[in-house]
Amino acid sequence: MRICTVVGARPQFVKASAVSPALKAVGIEEVLIHTGQHYDALLSQVFFDELGVPAPDENLNVGSGSHAHQTGAIMERLEAYLTSAGSFDAVLVYGDTNSTLAGALVAAKCHVPVAHVEAGIRSFNRRMPEEINRVITDALSKWLFAPTDLAVQHLAAEGLTKGTVMVGDVMLDATRMFTQRAKERWPLERITSVPAREYAIATVHRPSNTDTPGNLASILSAFGRLPWPVLLPLHPRTKAAMGEMKAPGNVVLMEPVGYLAMLTLCSNARLVLTDSGGLQKEAYWMQVPCVTLRTETEYPETFANGWNTCTAANEESIVAAAAKRPNGPQHALGQGPRGSAARMIAELLHEDCD
Ligand code: UD1
Repeated sequence: MRICTVVGARPQFVKASAVSPALKAVGIEEVLIHTGQHYDALLSQVFFDELGVPAPDENLNVGSGSHAHQTGAIMERLEAYLTSAGSFDAVLVYGDTNSTLAGALVAAKCHVPVAHVEAGIRSFNRRMPEEINRVITDALSKWLFAPTDLAVQHLAAEGLTKGTVMVGDVMLDATRMFTQRAKERWPLERITSVPAREYAIATVHRPSNTDTPGNLASILSAFGRLPWPVLLPLHPRTKAAMGEMKAPGNVVLMEPVGYLAMLTLCSNARLVLTDSGGLQKEAYWMQVPCVTLRTETEYPETFANGWNTCTAANEESIVAAAAKRPNGPQHALGQGPRGSAARMIAELLHEDCD
């Protein structure tokens, strides 16, 4: 079996680090295409260097731009590649980025079946570009690899039961695979002088927070009222949006960090504050409470017993949520029936195409 995997943004390199070796282990030949959506070394190359993701076979070098430009450029270049690179049994895409959508659209139109890893995740907020990317990608997919039971329910509600399998979350696989390597290569002292459990780690990059006037300012004001240092690795979009804005004295601005350093920062934190989907889950798996700087989450399972709270960009809500502590145990999130989600995906693809 020969498959073409399309990746392009940070979280997809992490997911590929779990899935690519699993595909190889069952004898599937994988061709890896990097769309070039993320191109800065700290947003891209570091993930390949640290996580053992095979070097991409092709880089489409699309770079930044409007959604239409970015999606269109990926489609044009990927179509040219797919129609010239021999036949594929599947195109595999991850998550919800513009690279995911473009990959699924081109594959479907070239009559190559689509495998979607992280199918069925929904925020029910169509103002998020990611939500549109998810809905369309799921509708076009032959294999819908869902990370949670809730995702399976969402797909069923849209009539997508054929091809849907709950496999668990490949990000949980990655967390398990790399926790030890993170400890060895990125001990906390290598990243910050702040002691464990005496800081919060924050990330902010959603357009709803960076591009809406006032939201970023009220998030930063809330951070300024927290009783600990708040470490804030800056996504380029956020850096640009901050412009001349001054961060409060306890907010430590940092360059973007790689996955291993982020695992260390997350596992040692007192609190995570984020608008990222992935970091919410990592916080949960590492038993660190989370404040989600959005109006909703794709992972409402994390609300139980106060492990996660959605505050949007509301200063008072953020400060109040940060003061709360969880008051009970966690539920299982992203645990697949066969243990490793990546291995199950590889096995299912292999069986189906034999
Ligand atoms: C994308 C995904 C988002 C994911 C995130 C992970 C979409 C719609 N969004 O958002 O779901 O959570 O990746 O980080 O696909 N930029 C750089 N260097 C880079 C890449 C981007 O400077 O290497 C800047 C560009 O100026 C660009 C901005 O960051 O305008 C946003 O980049 P883009 O890839 O469009 O979306 P993300 O916000 O990163």
